[in-house]
Amino acid sequence: MKILGIETSCDETAVAVVEDGRRLLSNIVATQVEMHAKYGGIVPELASRQHMITMLPVVEQALERAGTDLSDIDGVAVTHGPGLAGALLVGVNSAKGLALAKNLPLIGINHLEGHVYAGWLEDHEPETSPGFPLMCLIASGGHTDLILMKGHGEFRLVGRTRDDAAGEAFDKAARILELGFPGGPAIQKIAEMPAVQTEPFTRPLVRDSLDFSFSGLKSAMVRRAQEKELYPKKGDDPLDAGIVAGLAAEFQAAIVDSMVDKTLQAAAEYNVNGIVLGGGVAANALLRREMARRSPVEVVVPSPKLCTDNGAMIGAAAYFRMRDGFRYEWDLDVVPGLGLG
Ligand code: KG4
Ligand code: ZN
Repeated sequence: MKILGIETSCDETAVAVVEDGRRLLSNIVATQVEMHAKYGGIVPELASRQHMITMLPVVEQALERAGTDLSDIDGVAVTHGPGLAGALLVGVNSAKGLALAKNLPLIGINHLEGHVYAGWLEDHEPETSPGFPLMCLIASGGHTDLILMKGHGEFRLVGRTRDDAAGEAFDKAARILELGFPGGPAIQKIAEMPAVQTEPFTRPLVRDSLDFSFSGLKSAMVRRAQEKELYPKKGDDPLDAGIVAGLAAEFQAAIVDSMVDKTLQAAAEYNVNGIVLGGGVAANALLRREMARRSPVEVVVPSPKLCTDNGAMIGAAAYFRMRDGFRYEWDLDVVPGLGLG
C-alpha cells in the first residue's frame, strides 16, 4: 500500500511516498528556514503563503522520485494538527484536492503521532523489537511530551512541559547568544567548539511528576549572559566565541539531562519495553548519545533528517490507520491545538 504523506504544520513543505508504513520511496522537504531566519522566528502568514507556492512542485517531485504517479497511490495522508492554522489549511486543502481527483481515501494525521511513527521507518521494527508498550519522548519547537504507546493508535500523555518546549528553549537561548534560527542545531554546533568553562546550570526540578519545565533555564541563561556582558549586545563586534561555546554546552547539557531523567523515570514507572525518540530536538547528538548510554531498555531513534518535520512520518502513521480500516470524510478540518492521548 503506497501512501502520499503531506506535512505543512510549521515551516517545512514536506511530501513523501511511503510503502506499507515502513518503506521510504521518496521524502522531499522544502524548508522555509532562511526566509524566517531574517525575522528571528516563524512568521505564520509568510509560512502559509510559501506552502501554497511550493506545495504542488513538491508533490510532483515526491511522486517522480518514488517512480510513481497519483494513479498508483492508495491513500493521501495529511497533518491536520497541531500547528499553525493557516499553514495546516494549505496542506489539508491540497490533500483533499489530490484525494478527490483520484477518489482516494483521505487520512488526517496528528503531527505528534507522525513524529512517533518516524521510528518505524528505516530499519526499526518497534512493534516486535523492542515491542509494546513503548515510552515516546516527542520534543520539538512546540512540544515536549512523554507519551505511553500501548499499541498502534493507542496513546496516553503521561508528561509534558509546563512552560517552554525543549526546542523553544534552544531557540531562545540561541537568540540570546546571537547564534541565529533555528537554535537547536546552532547550539549543538558551537557546544562542540573549544570553550571557556562555565558553571553547570541548575537542573529544572518538577517534583512528583513526569512534567518538564524549561523556562527557568532560559531565565538563567539571560542572567548568565548579562553577567558576562554578552546580553544585551553592545556594539558591532561578535561575541566571544569561547564564552558562548561554554554557555551553549552547559545549556545543552542541562536540557538533555532533564529530558533523559524524566524519560527514564517514565519508562521505569510504566515498565515499558523500549523508548522511542522523535521531534526536531531528537536530532540532537548529545540527547541521542546520553539516552542510549543511560537507558536500560532499547532506544529507537530515527536518523536526524527524519526527526525534524517531514511527510514520511505522516505517511507511516497513516498506513497503520488505513490498515485498520480508518478513513476521514471530506469535511476534515484543521485542529491547531490538537493533542495526542
Ligand atoms: O519537529 P520540528 O522540526 O518542528 C516542530 O514540530 O516544532 O522541531 C523543530 C525544533 C526547533 O526548535 C529546533 O531548534 C529543534 O527542533 N532542533 C534541535 C536540533 N535540530 C532541530 N534541537 C536541538 N538539537 C538539534 N540538533
Ligand atoms: Zn514537528
